Amino acid sequence: MLGNRSVTDFDHTHDQVFPVRPDLASTAHINEAGYREAYDQAASNPEAFWAKEAQRVAWIKAPTKIKNTNFTGDISIKWFEDGVLNASASCLDRHLAERGDQTAIIWEGDNPNDSKHVTYRELHEQVCRFANVMKGLGVGRGDRVTIYLPMVPEAAVAMLACARVGAIHSIVFGGFSPDSLSNRIQDCNATLLITADEGRRGGRSVPLKANADKALASCPSVKNVVVVKVTGGKVAMQPGRDHDYATLVADASPVNEPEPMNAEDPLFILYTSGSTGQPKGVLHTTGGYLVWASYTHQNVFDYRPGDVYWCTADVGWVTGHTYIVYGPLANGATTLMFEGIPTYPDASRFWQVIDKHKVSIFYTAPTAIRSLMRDGEGPVKKTARTSLRLLGSVGEPINPEAWLWYYHVVGDARCPIVDTWWQTETGGILISPLPGATALKPGSATLPLPGVRPLLVDGDGKELTGATEGNLCLSDSWPGQMRTVYGDHARFKQTYFSTFPGLYFTGDGARRDADGYYWITGRVDDVINVSGHRMGTAEVESALVAHPKVAEAAVVGFPHDIKGQGIYAYVTLNAEEEPTEELRKELVAWVRQEIGPIASPDAIQWAPALPKTRSGKIMRRILRKIAANETESLGDTSTLADPAVVTELVQNRVG
Ligand code: WT7
Repeated sequence: MLGNRSVTDFDHTHDQVFPVRPDLASTAHINEAGYREAYDQAASNPEAFWAKEAQRVAWIKAPTKIKNTNFTGDISIKWFEDGVLNASASCLDRHLAERGDQTAIIWEGDNPNDSKHVTYRELHEQVCRFANVMKGLGVGRGDRVTIYLPMVPEAAVAMLACARVGAIHSIVFGGFSPDSLSNRIQDCNATLLITADEGRRGGRSVPLKANADKALASCPSVKNVVVVKVTGGKVAMQPGRDHDYATLVADASPVNEPEPMNAEDPLFILYTSGSTGQPKGVLHTTGGYLVWASYTHQNVFDYRPGDVYWCTADVGWVTGHTYIVYGPLANGATTLMFEGIPTYPDASRFWQVIDKHKVSIFYTAPTAIRSLMRDGEGPVKKTARTSLRLLGSVGEPINPEAWLWYYHVVGDARCPIVDTWWQTETGGILISPLPGATALKPGSATLPLPGVRPLLVDGDGKELTGATEGNLCLSDSWPGQMRTVYGDHARFKQTYFSTFPGLYFTGDGARRDADGYYWITGRVDDVINVSGHRMGTAEVESALVAHPKVAEAAVVGFPHDIKGQGIYAYVTLNAEEEPTEELRKELVAWVRQEIGPIASPDAIQWAPALPKTRSGKIMRRILRKIAANETESLGDTSTLADPAVVTELVQNRVG
């Protein structure tokens, strides 16, 4: 027990080590010796290791070719390439005999009085019905379906129904603007959009159908729109194009044969921001992704039958894909889906939901923990949390203060924390403790999972050995790896394999300590991690310069107490424009409207000019230093065209 100690009392305990709990060492799926053995096997004979692990999913035809991957030349990644399966059948049909009446999804509404349980049998029936609806609308193998839904069970139904008919789903997070939605629909030429009348979050409604209507004005590929009634709010329905979900499903047959898919047939596209241009369509395929989702969900969370597992992400992000839907359902788990937010109706909501549904495994993001820490221990301690046995963290580095608060206050010093490092591109977790195998160090994602081959390189791509710090790369493929950028394989190669030839470059920096533990230090490219969500600086900049009063803009990340990183924008206005508070607010609202609320700048500094080299390149390094208030260490400014620009920016720093 912590008594009255405050959060800051945890300082200076950063090199503390938490050994594996002896009971977990003997009961967990993998203990320390088991981890070493699995790691060595997966490294020395990946074929044998993954042939065996592949049996965890239901194959229509088991694969005989296991690994066929090449990180050089044109880059080609294939796993289980002659295997045939259907992801929806692997997540549903094969569980029916044994656990048809077990709850598959516990849905907890935004309103604390709303919740429901959906069994495997019910979920299977809904998916079959909706798969038939989709077929009736002409959607089949290889077609793209965009899903723009709130956190309701129908989101999982829509995903699995796509998988069942062989269509490729592309989920767009409900917080994205009509423009962002439109770009993502256009990029993959989706023919069907699945949305809702409105979403609900923190007592407010989100106008999804109205947003979708705006987006669809520029999306001629979309022939049909299926609308789930969530709030019952009044929305416009365009006859011939728009259909009511419940009516279609009620009229459809509950019997549907899953489409046999090749292991390398696409399962989904998920758009993610990079350092340049438009978001990329990260493409995942069926067999390798599902094996990775199942393997990591079972072992990292030490999942056991009877667990109630809760991942607080939104299905609009990869965490929701892999660890709310595909991983847990592939493993026959009970997965909790939460419609709301951590602070509604109050800051004890998470802990109340844990008590209400007897959650045993809880997986959330550091930003949520930091924001809840502000309210102190009270809202946590008024709940029991006795069902909890494991905690997880994802999305950004967790600072040791937040880790220790999570461990002591939320977990009552009983529950190991798995700090899981991965990316949209990796499909699932790559670096993480295993609860029965790995001693924990607050702030470290610890060790690579079996099959994961990390290495650190310097700026020239030279491998750094021992305890060191460098660019985090992976030297070999794992089954869950993305296969390409949808429609743009050259961009895939350029983005991930050109910086350090022969290696997959993650875009992250990391430190490795003397025990071989990895400490992710954050992005080394022009990507900002805001509350665990990836935002490209280039995207925010292009939104800003699209405003008629803006001449130029440069965006950088800066340390933010709650969000991890905040968005700091330097804006140069057109010559005749006055920098007013009103205009500042207008620009923030503009970016929200162009991209979505997650892209709202936290600070806007008026910049009469930006620091540029003589060849006209913006020196972001200097802008990052000013935003972080590290103006003592600006480094070399002698290559600037006009060093006086920096003095002006330092003086007028916003903070
Ligand atoms: C980036 C990927 C992983 C799913 C959610 C985000 C950062 C993620 C951790 C962690 C330190 C982390 C990295 C990574 N990140 N998890 N446990 N410790 N950093 O997926 O949007 O694709 O972002 O998030 O910088 O590259 P994403």
